Amino acid sequence: MVDSVYRTRSLGIGVSGIPDQYADGKAARVWQHYIGGHKKRTESYREFFCNLLNENGIRHILDVACGTGVDSIMLLENNFKVTSTDASDKMLKQAWKIRWQRRKEEAFDNWEIEEGNWLSLQETQITVPEGGFDAVICLGNSFAHLPDFPGDLSNQKLAIENFKDMLKPGGVLFIDHRNYDAILDTGKAPSKNLYYNSDCIEGIKTSVLYVDGRESMITLDYTVDPSKASEDFMEEGEEPKAKKRKSTDGEVSKFRLSYCPLRLKTFRSLLKGIFGEEVRHEVFGDFEPLGKVELPAYYVHMIWKATSENGVAAT
Ligand SMILES: C[S@@+](CC[C@H](N)C(=O)[O-])C[C@H]1O[C@@H](n2cnc3c(N)ncnc32)[C@H](O)[C@@H]1O
Repeated sequence: MVDSVYRTRSLGIGVSGIPDQYADGKAARVWQHYIGGHKKRTESYREFFCNLLNENGIRHILDVACGTGVDSIMLLENNFKVTSTDASDKMLKQAWKIRWQRRKEEAFDNWEIEEGNWLSLQETQITVPEGGFDAVICLGNSFAHLPDFPGDLSNQKLAIENFKDMLKPGGVLFIDHRNYDAILDTGKAPSKNLYYNSDCIEGIKTSVLYVDGRESMITLDYTVDPSKASEDFMEEGEEPKAKKRKSTDGEVSKFRLSYCPLRLKTFRSLLKGIFGEEVRHEVFGDFEPLGKVELPAYYVHMIWKATSENGVAAT
């Protein structure tokens, strides 16, 4: 679908809403259907990820792109302390709803959730532990939502600086992105993958925008049909016996999201430019050691903050 005027977002979202591509609520309403449900979505990486966190002594995690709360909830259920932020109140609404429903569980009662933008993360009303968080996570292909209109990655650099600021010395950032090398080379994004793998995905159309020969933006047009969900699909946060009409009843949802397609090599140097060349940095393909999955859909970076500002690197 190509408009006569190229739009980076679904129709109806004003220009001032560019940073929040979820502002019309369309994607948020069907998000759990799109990801295949909270529990199912995390099945494939829960054990690997939680082990990795435990092996590195990580306890308190800041999820800076929590969306409806999928990864935060998985971490709370696995005994981590979690603080969550996101720029979109439409997405956060679902996380707040689940927090309220599970408030009798101590971990959920203590779960802090606030609206927060990566470009001004310091202004977010969260309690930052003394020294900083053990880890910051930005998962589910979220970071790529940050546009690079100036063409110099200045927004990306600022956001990563802000993530680093939230970490204690020796803390770790986990940040992922789709395998944009593969998408740019083939011109098509696979519709099912590690994170987004549900029967409700009817289709995803890929458009690639070049500006003066620069790979500037990828726009994906999604069609999600919640009626295709299996009988036992339960949306977290929905009352099981809710009589009221559900917001997704009878609706085939079409929404558009845009991404800044950074190749793996660019992403590596972006991270190293902020964290320092000497720090430890590992990359996983679909949460497996690099090379194990032949064509990973996602790269997940794990990068350590130096233990002191004078450059002693975490090992
Ligand atoms: C693709 S969704 C992923 C949500 C969740 N991590 C998941 O995997 O389901 C991307 C999320 O990033 C958030 N986001 C995008 N740009 C942001 C920004 N500048 N600051 C904070 N959050 C942002 C969106 O609001 C959205 O909830």
